[in-house]
Amino acid sequence: MHSTTASTFPLSTTSPSFREAVAEAAAFPRLVQTVVRNMIEAWPAEVYSESLVEARLLGRRTLFVSDPRLIRELLVDQAARLGREEVMTRSLTPVLGSGILTADGERWRAQRRTAAPVFRHDRIRDFVPAMLAAAVATRARWMARTGDGAPVDLLADMMRTTFDIIVSTMMSDETGLDVARFGQAMDAYLDQTRWKMALTLVGAPAWMPHPGSARGVSAARYLRGTVTAAIESRRRGGRSGRDLLGLMLRARDPEGGDAMSDESLTDNLLTFIAAGHETTAITLAWTLCLLAEHPEIEARVVEEIAASGRDAPHGLPDLDALSYTRQVVMEVMRLYPAAPLIVRKTLDEVSLGGRRIPAGRSIHVPIYALHRHAKLWTAPERFDPDRFGPNESAGRDRHAYMPFGAGPRICIGMGFAMTECLAILAVLLPAFRFDRAGPARPEARFTVTLRPHGGVPMVVSPRGVR
Ligand code: HEM
Repeated sequence: MHSTTASTFPLSTTSPSFREAVAEAAAFPRLVQTVVRNMIEAWPAEVYSESLVEARLLGRRTLFVSDPRLIRELLVDQAARLGREEVMTRSLTPVLGSGILTADGERWRAQRRTAAPVFRHDRIRDFVPAMLAAAVATRARWMARTGDGAPVDLLADMMRTTFDIIVSTMMSDETGLDVARFGQAMDAYLDQTRWKMALTLVGAPAWMPHPGSARGVSAARYLRGTVTAAIESRRRGGRSGRDLLGLMLRARDPEGGDAMSDESLTDNLLTFIAAGHETTAITLAWTLCLLAEHPEIEARVVEEIAASGRDAPHGLPDLDALSYTRQVVMEVMRLYPAAPLIVRKTLDEVSLGGRRIPAGRSIHVPIYALHRHAKLWTAPERFDPDRFGPNESAGRDRHAYMPFGAGPRICIGMGFAMTECLAILAVLLPAFRFDRAGPARPEARFTVTLRPHGGVPMVVSPRGVR
């Protein structure tokens, strides 16, 4: 279902006719429902075949950019002329404050500069044991229950695994932390943000109540209070520690040497949890789902993990050796990018493909559509990890594939997420086979992230046991 009025660029800049405006207004409630249910359904069909599409999305003039050269021109060359869109900031600021994900301008730049070294490759390596430990705990839980034949929701279990990882890599010393309650509060907060997004799109005021809004307010209060208390306790204890919180406490802005304030630390630690755990869990759930559908690809992955020689129960897998497994995860993120849309607002006039786009315009880069674009991919719907082999990738425009974004605001946790995916797959895939419990691949729905609707129910059996 495509419910916007669209036309490929160039588009006349006149407002819709009176009749169109009335019809649009009448369709509003349905459109809000669509955005809350699955925002991708509200995109014009042309985003999958054209480069630049201007459409009215819930009454707002929105420019969709699905062309790698134009994306580079925008997100890389003219990044400084773009800012965060209200759609994102209004939904996330109550819990994430003004951290790296939500801030703009100098405030964003200083925080990004300060935090960047924390996510360096060598630092991420230090987190691998914690990642493996969480995966081993999931493996033990599955071992204990396999044999009963009851399906396991892999999405829920991957959420738990990646949440355990982010909490243990971030706040390893906070033994008093109620991890389950913290996770529930984060879920409760994120779940109601789709309403905030939809209401912002239709121009409703920020105070307008919506389903889940009261729970969202108390979840935000609890989450911020808990993280602030952890920071204060760490400061009182007089040592920073080697986990993410410790690294962030010691981090200094390379320009000027300032440390982050406690408020910025709270904003960013919550940002890492919110931006990092669900996205990675979803990627893993889709990976296990697609591998179950493609046994020959799964067999290659299992073989590669075995050949890395480290798949013994407590061995450390050599993640660098898992190049095909990495290709598989990349192909999964092509078909199911966990963050399927990048949104910006023009702060100044920008030039795009020789056209001038005025300040104040909403620009959407529909990653999900870019990754399935008819002009960029052969058989875009086919799951084929060989697309990311060294030969096949050579010559592909870097901005035809961007699950982690592009330009200065590219995902800071990209290396962390990729390492985490490989670590978890290296522990779980040699141990289990996964058979689909439902009749079809789950539907992908974009609310805050691109989730498999209804989860990923699978029967999990120890490998070799039928
Ligand atoms: C598979 C997992 C992940 C995916 C698909 C993903 C995707 C993305 C994308 C597309 C952006 C760019 C958004 C934009 O340009 O508007 C982004 C930004 C960001 N991501 Fe990730 N992410 C993942 C994991 C993580 C992890 C593990 C962390 C932290 C531990 C993280 C932290 C962030 C932050 C802080 C930003 C904002 C960067 C900035 O604006 O400077 N992400 N992510």
